[in-house]
Amino acid sequence: MAMEVLTLGDEQLRQKALAVKKIDESYQRLADSMLDILHKQRGVGLAGPQVGVLERIFVVHVEGDVPRVFINPSIIETSEAQLSFEEGCLSVPGVWAELIRPKIIKVQAWNERGRPFTIEVGGLLARVIQHECDHLEGVLFIDHLSEAKRERLLEKYGNLKLKKLKKKISR
Ligand code: NI
Repeated sequence: MAMEVLTLGDEQLRQKALAVKKIDESYQRLADSMLDILHKQRGVGLAGPQVGVLERIFVVHVEGDVPRVFINPSIIETSEAQLSFEEGCLSVPGVWAELIRPKIIKVQAWNERGRPFTIEVGGLLARVIQHECDHLEGVLFIDHLSEAKRERLLEKYGNLKLKKLKKKISR
């Protein structure tokens, strides 16, 4: 069955994902399917809960880097230095917002072949990994905004959805 990306309002996006107990070969297939969706939708990161898989897995692919798979990730260090950066999400399509997060992070995880690794990253990669780790906790980037900012963003999001719907009906 083809996976699709769940959008805001779907309860699965709000649940805490469970740890992966054993990384067998099914995770290579899952990671491949997730990367496929990520590329088709021109995103930079996609987490399990976004495709209805409530497990601690996400894929990341930023320009100039290789595709990466993270299973049971934990951010073990964050820099004191922070950075403001624009974020969007495939589950909240069409809207973006500036968010402040640590600039550099150290992450420990396993890849789709069950190999553990630790990396220290900055830039866009650090940003995307933090965003995806949030997804595993049922947290969306809009949750980090002030109430006023979030309301403005959601209003815009609602209007975009309405426009799309009207287009569909008038066809
Ligand atoms: Ni997202």
